[in-house]
Amino acid sequence: MTCGSACGPPLSEDSRRQIVVSSPSKLNLFLEVLARRDDGFHELETIMVRTSFCDTLRLSPRDDGRLVLRFSDATADTFRNSVPLDQTNLILRAAEALRNRTGFSEGADLVLHKVIPPQAGLGGGSGNAAAALLGLRRLLGLSITDEELHEIAAGLGSDLNFLLSGERAAVCRGRGEIVSPLKLRGRYFFVATRPDQGNETNRIFSSLRVPPQPVSCAPLVQLLERGEAAGADQLFFNRLTDAASLHNTAMRSMMQEIQRCSRQRVWMSGSGSTVFVRCQSYTAANQMRRFLQQLLRRDAWVLQV
Ligand code: C5P
Repeated sequence: MTCGSACGPPLSEDSRRQIVVSSPSKLNLFLEVLARRDDGFHELETIMVRTSFCDTLRLSPRDDGRLVLRFSDATADTFRNSVPLDQTNLILRAAEALRNRTGFSEGADLVLHKVIPPQAGLGGGSGNAAAALLGLRRLLGLSITDEELHEIAAGLGSDLNFLLSGERAAVCRGRGEIVSPLKLRGRYFFVATRPDQGNETNRIFSSLRVPPQPVSCAPLVQLLERGEAAGADQLFFNRLTDAASLHNTAMRSMMQEIQRCSRQRVWMSGSGSTVFVRCQSYTAANQMRRFLQQLLRRDAWVLQV
């Protein structure tokens, strides 16, 4: 059964009272830094799109009142070694924040099927936390509004609100938590890959020089809303790219090599270390994926928007 949710990705429920929530990733097609704030964060203007590259979170009730997170049996070892399942995981932080807000006493098993790499700029952890909020609300029948879920999300991280909103595309401002939906026309096909080394978002932001004259996303928004994909990608932009390239030289080399061998422009998502190219069609994206996998001898993914 698929149940309607005012916000967030689709949920489904099976006869054993399990909730399965899709936990999508995002790409930043544009990211400008407007100012450094007194609270240590940066004021942003960013365009995020939700992609087809998803983790999955399965939730079911537990009798002992505990919230227990584990990986699905099919989750690869690389994730088991790099993603903690303790209270530092955003899923459990989101669940505890929801418990504090609503006072629920029930327990739940949360089983995460992970495919989105961490420290990648794809919002994987944020999407997982958004999925936990939506899944627990549904599983436990909590009476908490979308607005209240968004308040909890804003306290946990800067990308959660977009992924919680279920929007396909949005301009996000503030720390990233103020989401203004964008009417994206047409379909987009990207191929993304990343070096082994991820990027720590706070390190990238702290080594950034805030630009004296920020670039506006308005011209790109117009093209995206008109469905002019080919012109739009001329305006894709990420202010964090130079700072991230200094920290992650493998990422910088990878961007140069992709650009040189594929003659495609390459962009970085979020604070990296995922880099991506745009393709004209699903078929072209699959060809590009194979090409990049051979060229770089590593995994690449087709992301549809
Ligand atoms: O919100 P999130 O957990 O993604 O942020 C991680 C770190 O990135 C923050 O602690 C902060 O150092 C930096 N950041 C920032 N400005 C933003 C978002 C993140 O400086 N708008």
